[in-house]
Amino acid sequence: MTGAPPQVIAVDGPAASGKGTIAAAVARALGFHYLDSGALYRLVALKAARSGADVDDEAALARLAAALAVVFHDGTVALDGDDATAAIRSESVSAAASRVAVHPAVRRALIERQRAFRRPPGLVADGRDMGTVVFPDARTKVFVTASAEQRARRRHKQLIAKGISITMDGLLRDIRERDARDAGRAAAPLEPAPDAVLLDTTDLTIDEAVARVLALYRSAGAMTRADDPKA
Ligand code: DC
Repeated sequence: MTGAPPQVIAVDGPAASGKGTIAAAVARALGFHYLDSGALYRLVALKAARSGADVDDEAALARLAAALAVVFHDGTVALDGDDATAAIRSESVSAAASRVAVHPAVRRALIERQRAFRRPPGLVADGRDMGTVVFPDARTKVFVTASAEQRARRRHKQLIAKGISITMDGLLRDIRERDARDAGRAAAPLEPAPDAVLLDTTDLTIDEAVARVLALYRSAGAMTRADDPKA
């Protein structure tokens, strides 16, 4: 053991950019752990709704975030012992999560919980501030983008497949509103880390995007070995 912390691949980007699907596939390909950090903000929003806390009450939300009883297992998540996998994906929780996430105290309360996912052999972390705030020393940082129209089309397809009917116009409006809130907030706004590689998936398949992230990770490893005699 060298004592070096396990490697991290940070995958950040806006809502419905495909980053979650890409990050989970990269984690599977490498046998790494996977952190869906957005799920934590969604869980705080769900817990707040269930306990009657106001989404603008920063101190109350931070207390809920710090005490959150969450178990992630095999792609499912339980809150207070009950399965919450579907509940955290509802449109109302999506909207509330982005309001909960503006509060610095909530973000601070979730930092160590996110860092605890960094275990051998490595971690793929997906979110908005993985490369900028939570894992600034990540070996590979990717910022996934896609046009708002393409993201709305993808989300539309997913919802139709689930039998949920919703208009493209409404989806596009929601995506733009969420983008503006996530990018405009003062605490850890959605922005690429200076050392992140931009990956525009508008015209890429998931497999192509996954292959690019794997190639970036592998080439970063080759560079580290060549540049650093200790590595
Ligand atoms: O990735 P997602 O759509 O599940 O995220 C839900 C909300 O949480 C989203 O509005 C932005 C916020 N979020 C955040 O602020 N920071 C993260 N690292 C992940 C998500």
